[in-house]
Amino acid sequence: MQAIVMTATGEPEVLQTQEVPDPHPGVGEILIRATAIPVLYAETLLRSGAFPIAGPPGAFGFQAAGSVLEAGAGVDPGLIGARVVVSTAGQGAYAEKVCVPAEFATIIPDGLATDAAAAVLMGGSVATALLRRAGLTGGETVLVPVATTGVGGYLTQLARESGASRVIATASAAKSDRARALGADEVIDHRAPDWPRRLREILGDSTIDVVFETFGGDIAHDLLDVLTPLDGRMLGYGQLSGAPATIAAADLHARGLTYTACAGPEWLTRVATTRADVLDRAAAGRIEPLIDRILPLDQAAKAHRLVQNRATTGTILLRPAAA
Ligand SMILES: NC(=O)c1ccc[n+]([C@@H]2O[C@H](COP(=O)([O-])OP(=O)(O)OC[C@H]3O[C@@H](n4cnc5c(N)ncnc54)[C@H](OP(=O)(O)O)[C@@H]3O)[C@@H](O)[C@H]2O)c1
Repeated sequence: MQAIVMTATGEPEVLQTQEVPDPHPGVGEILIRATAIPVLYAETLLRSGAFPIAGPPGAFGFQAAGSVLEAGAGVDPGLIGARVVVSTAGQGAYAEKVCVPAEFATIIPDGLATDAAAAVLMGGSVATALLRRAGLTGGETVLVPVATTGVGGYLTQLARESGASRVIATASAAKSDRARALGADEVIDHRAPDWPRRLREILGDSTIDVVFETFGGDIAHDLLDVLTPLDGRMLGYGQLSGAPATIAAADLHARGLTYTACAGPEWLTRVATTRADVLDRAAAGRIEPLIDRILPLDQAAKAHRLVQNRATTGTILLRPAAA
């Protein structure tokens, strides 16, 4: 079958199309024919070498959506033909056929297109887990950085129904109308120098109750200044700046703030529990799946360059030729 193999760490061109043996489902596994493969931000970090990759080189990628072709021993054969989105253990998704443990599959409900399910699964489930963790009490103000693409695009859509009364977002200027359309009340251009100062201007005497923090680095530290003393909480889930948040316990003590790290294996297990709910809500039209464009699987390198160049609004999906 055709697959995209990461031949080294580096620029997007290290992702190369190769013929590799078909995978076969073992005990407890299913094999799917992939029709939509989301390109995820974290995958660009893995490819560049910023994150270590586990195991020998093989087909790249974390998630894929398609139909079940085969069920291994111990798996309900009634699953064959079902439409599912699957998560791999870290490799194997950028391929015509993808093999995963059956429990890593989420059934796509009727009424939701396979492409839409592939696009919404990661961002929608992380956003849902973040909003549950935030415990919004109603009438609170939230800050959603990077509000139009991945996780942020779904936080913007879901914040109000989760108890936010005011949603302040950040996005690059070209994407600000999109952030408003998704539900932001106000949008700040996070590419402008000293944009946190602009945020303080907008707030006046008011404060932010919850920041869904994805920049990391010094920006995370600066944003503590706008949090509501005592009840303010920052949920840190990303580090787009390339560095972890430079926040010390003393920074929180001084104002009684809470910082919650939303990362690591236990966090991802919690995220996974929201997947079926996210697909159901997307099927019911309560979340808009954000698809940037669909490219042939053999253009995976181009897709990574678009993500790396911040040129996307929504998820790029890769489509195998055989699909
Ligand atoms: N903890 C978790 O469970 C979890 C899960 C998924 C992702 N993450 C992390 O969350 C972060 C966002 O991931 P995502 O999937 O939501 O991706 P994403 O929304 O597609 O993020 C990419 C967008 O971020 C914006 N951006 C702002 N500052 C940036 C910078 N310094 N470098 C690159 N892009 C920048 C760009 O939009 P503009 O054009 O508007 O600037 C870009 O298009 C990443 O750090 C990722 O690793 C964490």
